[in-house]
Amino acid sequence: MLIDGHGREVNYLRVSVTERCNFRCQYCMPEKPFSWVPKENLLSFEELFLFMKVAIDSGVNKIRLTGGEPLLRENLDTFIKMIHDYKPDIDLALTSNGYLLPKSAQKLKDAGLKRLNISLDTLKPAVAAQIAQKNVLGKVLEGIEKALDVGLGVKINMVPLKGVNDGEIVDILEYCYDRGIKVRFIEYMENSYANSDLQGMHGKEILAKVKERYEIKTVGREGASPSFNYYIEELDYEFGLIDPHKHDFCDNCNRIRLTAEGHLIPCLYFDEALSIAESVREGDVEAAAKVLATVLKEKPKENRWSTSLEDGDTSGRAFYQTGG
Ligand code: 5AD
Ligand code: SF4
Repeated sequence: MLIDGHGREVNYLRVSVTERCNFRCQYCMPEKPFSWVPKENLLSFEELFLFMKVAIDSGVNKIRLTGGEPLLRENLDTFIKMIHDYKPDIDLALTSNGYLLPKSAQKLKDAGLKRLNISLDTLKPAVAAQIAQKNVLGKVLEGIEKALDVGLGVKINMVPLKGVNDGEIVDILEYCYDRGIKVRFIEYMENSYANSDLQGMHGKEILAKVKERYEIKTVGREGASPSFNYYIEELDYEFGLIDPHKHDFCDNCNRIRLTAEGHLIPCLYFDEALSIAESVREGDVEAAAKVLATVLKEKPKENRWSTSLEDGDTSGRAFYQTGG
């Protein structure tokens, strides 16, 4: 079992396989970064996997692959199969923007993927093009249908933004309800890369939009998940709200993150990280385990999004490197 410096059990590893993305979402990567991490700095699947085995053997039983857009990394299905074959009962998931799913959903399912989260911020082509800065909606919707068709579990993420898609909160909820899939509304998290004109919505404002149409009941937090759940009796439907500005979920935080170049990150908000690159490149499993132990010991108690709005200090972490 992995226990951090604040007594929390860590059993969840998020692995960003690439920082690259085929979208330029305003809240994440509005402009192409000045430079990408050079290819030679990227860890190979074998190298990433060496560390992942250490983590799995020590108690990690939940892995999520993220990006950037993880489907841009070649042969991702082979990587999924490596993980699946090593421990078939691992809870293995993926976060994707959905664009490449029409052609890859079946391969992912066959490789052992169980479920994935797909970002869907709008059902209007023009708004999708405004957010992602590319005409993406058709492919994303097709990707969602394809994922469902091949039997993958699907959840939808929506980031409501004032004056952009705030009028579509109920529409997205009903789209998900119609397909029997869960939607989670995510509060926009300020970060220094995002378009600074964006205005996010507070959890309360998001809920108010739903309440204009439906009566909702509070369910509660889902285990260690940052998602707080609500229930709509009229639809017999549960949805989630992820509100990082209220960091009560930090008490139950169970996760660490690994980037494609081997940075092991204890908390999404902070810049601190240690590298496992050298140890896995040398095949030194013990050294990798030591880095893991140090990162766990130094994992911060909570994020600072609640105060970042007031004091103007915000996270310098790029979501496209950490996978959100
Ligand atoms: N605030 C909130 N959510 C974000 N995501 C990316 N950037 C941000 C941000 N600044 C989320 C997207 C996507 C997932 C990969 O991360 O909604 O679903
Ligand atoms: Fe790409 Fe996801 Fe970031 Fe959008 S939010 S730019 S899809 S990584």
